[in-house]
Amino acid sequence: MSDFAFDTVIHGGTIVTATDTYKADIGIRDGRIAAVAESLAGGTKRIDATGRLVMPGGIEGHAHIAQESSTKIMTADDYYTGSVSAAFGGNSSFIPFAAQHRGQSLDDVVAIYDERAAPNSVIDYSYHLIVSDPSPEVLEEQLPRAFARGITSFKVFMTYDLLNLGDGGMLDVLTVAKTHGALTMVHAENNDMVKWMNKRLAAKGLTAPKYHAISRPELAEEEAINRAVTLAKLVDAPLFVVHVSTEAGAAIIRRETQAGVKLFAETCPQYLALTREDLDRPGMEGAKFMCSPPVRDAQTQEALWRHIQAGTFMSVSSDHAPYRYDETGKLFNGADVPYPKIANGMPGIAMRLPWLFSEGVVKGRISANQFVALTSTNAAKVFGMARKGSIAPGFDADIAIWDPNETRVVSLDDQHDNMDYTPFEGLTVTGWPRTVLNRGELVVEERELVATRGRGRFVARDTVDLTGRPGYRAPELDPARNFGADIAP
Ligand code: URP
Ligand code: ZN
Ligand code: ZN
Repeated sequence: MSDFAFDTVIHGGTIVTATDTYKADIGIRDGRIAAVAESLAGGTKRIDATGRLVMPGGIEGHAHIAQESSTKIMTADDYYTGSVSAAFGGNSSFIPFAAQHRGQSLDDVVAIYDERAAPNSVIDYSYHLIVSDPSPEVLEEQLPRAFARGITSFKVFMTYDLLNLGDGGMLDVLTVAKTHGALTMVHAENNDMVKWMNKRLAAKGLTAPKYHAISRPELAEEEAINRAVTLAKLVDAPLFVVHVSTEAGAAIIRRETQAGVKLFAETCPQYLALTREDLDRPGMEGAKFMCSPPVRDAQTQEALWRHIQAGTFMSVSSDHAPYRYDETGKLFNGADVPYPKIANGMPGIAMRLPWLFSEGVVKGRISANQFVALTSTNAAKVFGMARKGSIAPGFDADIAIWDPNETRVVSLDDQHDNMDYTPFEGLTVTGWPRTVLNRGELVVEERELVATRGRGRFVARDTVDLTGRPGYRAPELDPARNFGADIAP
């Protein structure tokens, strides 16, 4: 092979993968990594990465993009602004949600999101479905069709009246997912506890945004995670618990993972960076910090960091849910409404990686290799993106080149999204991605957008990788126990 057979060579940098850190050059050809070697000559384009870290591009596994909430509020970011913001934040692919509203067919949902994503995304994308209406057609025909198309994961809710599936609905979807090798993701909060809290708070006129954090108790998450895991165990199905916000919830994940359950979980920067005091601002300002489950306290942050260090969480995701602080978003139902009428969620797709690098790697809480695992490699494995998430010959050339020493105070300008605020405003962050490639093409070059709208491609994903997770057999559903009832999925 001639030295000049590479389209691009990244040279002089320090490569960081989930396992190794070493100095080497990367040769890219036809969108893939073709060589990694001490020194590579040639390349139609040569990128000097001296003094930089060269890492797999982030894979954002939890984002709400061009998505209507169940109460019909549209996110501020579409697939263009959302993907641009993701890329500036060091991501080379993302997996937003494609949400089913009750009565809708999943075929229609996928078609709608294809129209939203394909002409617009500047990075590769896939979807997790949101299933809110598990009718027999959805369970028997539409979900399997979506899985066959490579949409191998979906989220369900245990809270919100318009989304909550109930325990029976959960068992149905878990069973279908297990049968097809797909992954059920769950938003775990006890709906009745939250509604009861809402009623008590409303009766006393306590409806300012800060009461949102009170209305969704830690116990509501703990109870629902425990129940979700128990339901998954009954049918021995894989489960992914999203946006874990409590120490007790994380402890359940850790215990049950150790017991072999097919369990995965994530937490998000907001649960590590913010507290319920951030909701206690004059007027409605606290609405900017409202998400569900809510942010908690400093003690919880420390506990969640310990769980990150110990490997409880598969990933740290943004849960980017961009609702502007105006009548299109947070104030959709009015400028002075009780907190239950304010959209939940906050933006953060551009800050996930810089914030985690700064607070995690720079402050010595996690290694750079753990950082890569938490932000890219593990998501590639669990969500079935076999060609992404690492730097080695054969992988897609999805690469983020970081200046680990650059220090900046976070501002809205850094976000490149369609939002009018960032909850991370004013924080000092060290370590920023400067250049991002996706399949060998430059998306962001030295903090300038160079990608064309719509260049990102849909990624058909594999089934969930359950290596190292033996699972659980409920005795009553274990054919080996011979109870005479052959009903195990
Ligand atoms: O409050 C949040 N996190 N909103 C986004 C939707 C969800 O539940 O993830
Ligand atoms: Zn959720
Ligand atoms: Zn979310």
